Amino acid sequence: MSSSKRIVVTGASRGLGRVMVESFVALGHVVSGCARATMVMQQLHERFGDPHDFQTVDVSDERQVQRWARQVLDRVGPPDLLLNNAAMINQKSPLWRVPTDEFSRLVDVNVKGVFHVIHHFLPAMIERGSGVVVNFSSGWGRSTATDVAPYCATKWAIEGLTQALAEELPAGLAAVPLNPGIINTEMLASCFADDAAAYPSPEEWARRAVPFLLALGPDDNGRPLTVPD
Ligand SMILES: NC(=O)c1ccc[n+]([C@@H]2O[C@H](COP(=O)([O-])OP(=O)(O)OC[C@H]3O[C@@H](n4cnc5c(N)ncnc54)[C@H](OP(=O)(O)O)[C@@H]3O)[C@@H](O)[C@H]2O)c1
Repeated sequence: MSSSKRIVVTGASRGLGRVMVESFVALGHVVSGCARATMVMQQLHERFGDPHDFQTVDVSDERQVQRWARQVLDRVGPPDLLLNNAAMINQKSPLWRVPTDEFSRLVDVNVKGVFHVIHHFLPAMIERGSGVVVNFSSGWGRSTATDVAPYCATKWAIEGLTQALAEELPAGLAAVPLNPGIINTEMLASCFADDAAAYPSPEEWARRAVPFLLALGPDDNGRPLTVPD
């Protein structure tokens, strides 16, 4: 490997975030991850040790994100790759039957959570003059389907937020919305039930996604990307 990158990953406890952590560490990169599952964060911390770090953080809580960002920036400095991966999906339902607190929670995690992470990590990346922000979108950030309107709303928001951010960034940095594809994770199973098993595992996905993510740079700024098949 030519050079070790500093990588920040939200939603590191399972699914795509977890396999990205495993792959990046195996390749010699320095990973700082977060999720709400305290036990899993402790296990990752014990397994990988310094210079990697895993903290219990709910991205919807700005103060928790602020504290985490300060720790990461003090310890390893600004990330080369900031992966806003954490998200949730609604229980399948027509929009008019979605409970209002569930709709609010999706916005708090999927949209405001991404903003909190950007708000507390990006200034240090801008000061250094380099780094790539990847905001995990979805096929449902560019198309729609029945029974997932709240999720679609948040992922379309991510596409817009990221495109606007890309226009604001100084040279040397990039922000991209990323559709990861369709992968057999807990999130997919909650939506597709048994049909989720027909899709690639997170490990299979990581073999394509990880080199793709590591190759991103300033030329990608503002490009809506999809992990190649
Ligand atoms: N799987 C797919 O087919 C697919 C397709 C399109 C887009 N995506 C996107 O890809 C990303 C990863 O999805 P996935 O399938 O891996 O989902 P997943 O299996 O449900 O994992 C979601 C991760 O996000 C974390 N998370 C959820 N709420 C959080 C919060 N408030 N604060 C911090 N972490 C939180 C979860 O950890 P805790 O519960 O421990 O907090 C978990 O680690 C998401 O942005 C998703 O929308 C996935």
